[in-house]
Amino acid sequence: MLTAYDFPLAKLLDESGVDAVLVGDSLSMVVQGHDNTLHVTLDQIIYHAEIVGRAVQRALVVVDMPFPTFHVSTSSAIANAARILQETRCQAVKLEGTTEQATTIAALVGAGIPVMGHVGLRPQMVHHMGGYKMQRDADKLMADAQAVQAAGAFAIVLECIPSEIAAEITTALSIPTIGIGAGNECDGQVLVVHDLLGMTSGYVPRFVRQYADVQSVVKDAVTSYCRDVADGSFPGPDQTLS
Ligand code: KIV
Repeated sequence: MLTAYDFPLAKLLDESGVDAVLVGDSLSMVVQGHDNTLHVTLDQIIYHAEIVGRAVQRALVVVDMPFPTFHVSTSSAIANAARILQETRCQAVKLEGTTEQATTIAALVGAGIPVMGHVGLRPQMVHHMGGYKMQRDADKLMADAQAVQAAGAFAIVLECIPSEIAAEITTALSIPTIGIGAGNECDGQVLVVHDLLGMTSGYVPRFVRQYADVQSVVKDAVTSYCRDVADGSFPGPDQTLS
């Protein structure tokens, strides 16, 4: 699974064979330039999810429920998740939840809304958790994952937890686990696509593997364009219309 927020990249991911595309609330950081994920609104994620949903023909598209769209009440969580499915072509929502959100997850699933869980480091709780820290409480992590599965989630993201704990959870659960900073014994993996492509200018977590340096490609291309315009070599004969 990889994240996408716009049409061209979502189309490329789908054509390249990812199983699932996540319209993540990482949108707040990698696209909107905020320093955490708390700033994305429901309307904003729906705007991006509608675009991504149109681009993806094959993969499953999952949309993050932004903070605090599933915290206020069960009925508002259902209404908000329903808007996501109704106003986009996406098929499922993801929410950062522990045992405390099990009732909400069960209500969403009961309303016919497929839910992907997300335990371990939950970036929407950054202030409560005291920063972006590895989560190491094995008993709590297992209890959270079991509660999310029991509530009816069809898959679960495990973020920033020791690989041995992720492996134990993966063995214990019957639903697929998707790791990010959780070792290689999860059933699947997820990354923020901007990190994978080398498009992020700020902090990149250690668990990321950068497969390309798109930032340098873009900088080189734009610098060359500016140079060519300044010295008069662009447009050249090939770009001159008669
Ligand atoms: O918002 C996001 O991109 C995510 C992934 C990092 C799992 O939740």
